[in-house]
Amino acid sequence: MKLFIDSADIDEIERAYASGVVDGVTTNPSLLKAALVLHKKGAKKINLEEYLIDIITVAKNTPVSLEVTKTDFDGMVKEGLALYNRFNPLSNNVVIKIPINSSLTGKTKITDGLRAIRALVQARIPINATLIFTPEQALLAAKAGASYVSIFIGRVDDYIRTQHGIGFEKPDYYPAEGYVHAGKHLQDNGILSGMDVIKQSVAIFKNYGLKAQILAASIRNARQFREVALAGAHVATLPPGVLVSILNHTKTVEGVKQFIEDTPADYARLAVDRK
Ligand code: E4P
Repeated sequence: MKLFIDSADIDEIERAYASGVVDGVTTNPSLLKAALVLHKKGAKKINLEEYLIDIITVAKNTPVSLEVTKTDFDGMVKEGLALYNRFNPLSNNVVIKIPINSSLTGKTKITDGLRAIRALVQARIPINATLIFTPEQALLAAKAGASYVSIFIGRVDDYIRTQHGIGFEKPDYYPAEGYVHAGKHLQDNGILSGMDVIKQSVAIFKNYGLKAQILAASIRNARQFREVALAGAHVATLPPGVLVSILNHTKTVEGVKQFIEDTPADYARLAVDRK
């Protein structure tokens, strides 16, 4: 399974790569906005081009997803081409992120996202189809030729909870098998949870041998990461906090403490390199 870091903060990305287990980066405009605010020193504006070059350089030969911000077909294709042509030559690792449906209040066509994916794929540009909330959206993105389909599992859960007035904190676990509230099994058109979208998509992709990689995004906690891995997602993109939380277990810390206390003095001396 591949692990991506879900961040646009260069320091977080560097730390994640230093761990040696990270295979790529996913950014989005909101993550980029937050990172630019964080890294701004005084009144001086950050040079965005140099900032993105830094991210792409840290990620070296591993994929970095950069998202388009236009919503119409022509705009998304032009922006995708421009981002790819500017940044891909640095390390041959840029993937363009296109929303599966970019249509805003009827100003753009509902199929513009799909058409933009297809057009950029035909130009040999790898695509990460994003903002996917159902297995059928994932299927269409794969048919359009996307390399990755980003399923926003946490936001699926948020949506189901919000629809039923259930309060929650972002890291809260949402049951993969669905939530029973006031005697009712909550769902969104047959979808029980974000995890359910992953499971159904994995099954559909297997049925038809679809080549796109299922990328579990919007992961909120370590348990969800475990569940997407079990379900067979090809990639999980993890916020830095979740990546770190996976390592944490009370008994691990307790065990290390005990081992340190019990270490014989001679053993500690032997473990010093005398070369
Ligand atoms: C994925 O590519 C998205 O950037 C991200 O996972 C969204 O996560 P959020 O729902 O926690 O904002």
